[in-house]
Amino acid sequence: MSVPAAGTGVRSVTRARIAARTLRTDRWWQPPLLTTLGLAVFVVYATIRSFVRTAYWVEEYHYLTPFYSPCVSASCVPGARHFGTWVGELPMWIPLAFLSLPFLLGFRLTCYYYRKAYYRSIWLAPPACAVAEPHARYTGETRLPLLIQNSHRYFFYTALVISAINTYDAILAFHGAGGGFGFGLGNVILVVNVVLLWAYTVSCHSCRHVTGGRLKHFSKHPLRYRVWTFVSRLNTRHMQLAWTTLGTLMITDFYIMLVASGTISDLRFVG
Ligand code: FES
Repeated sequence: MSVPAAGTGVRSVTRARIAARTLRTDRWWQPPLLTTLGLAVFVVYATIRSFVRTAYWVEEYHYLTPFYSPCVSASCVPGARHFGTWVGELPMWIPLAFLSLPFLLGFRLTCYYYRKAYYRSIWLAPPACAVAEPHARYTGETRLPLLIQNSHRYFFYTALVISAINTYDAILAFHGAGGGFGFGLGNVILVVNVVLLWAYTVSCHSCRHVTGGRLKHFSKHPLRYRVWTFVSRLNTRHMQLAWTTLGTLMITDFYIMLVASGTISDLRFVG
């Protein structure tokens, strides 16, 4: 790891003159390492699954994995096109969920929690408290590319729409093998995933600001105050929800992949 030049960064004249990179003797490197591994597992899994174009739809029960929603091209199997066919065949390098994936990626990348996670674990800026960072200069989020982080609020709005689409998919999945109403383990997984996605989305810091920001008197806006209080409570769990939803997204997709490929049968309760 490079050390900042003398007079810059943590070696600036106003900082304590400590030659060692850190005086910490505990395993300060463990949390950033685990964070990097956790994020890498999700990125690799999601990338592979988003491009394979197999086992993403269960025709019998109308299960659609969130990694392929909304499916609006002629390349999607007809049943999975819940919103119709908007475009023709797509080349293999374009994921079938091309409408949602860039916004979901932007939403997660600019999320306040994930910023903390990857600034520390991948950027090492700094990797832990009282551990010197390798960078000589710090410009924060005042210029490109990190200036884009300020667009988080707009990604939040798109995430609301995508959560609504996932909810619609989960409702359509209450479908029996012979038509009509049906209900199986896949529905439980889809619904839990959607509820947690809503919880993660609504616990967003931007949502707190949208619901309760710029108010001079909460007493004059009792409804917004109640909503803001609810969002603020959820917000304290934002980090946990960020990780939990990465897990539920993978579990949901994996389960649907197993059922769609015929590897396992869905555990049916009704229909
Ligand atoms: Fe994490 Fe908005 S702060 S999603």
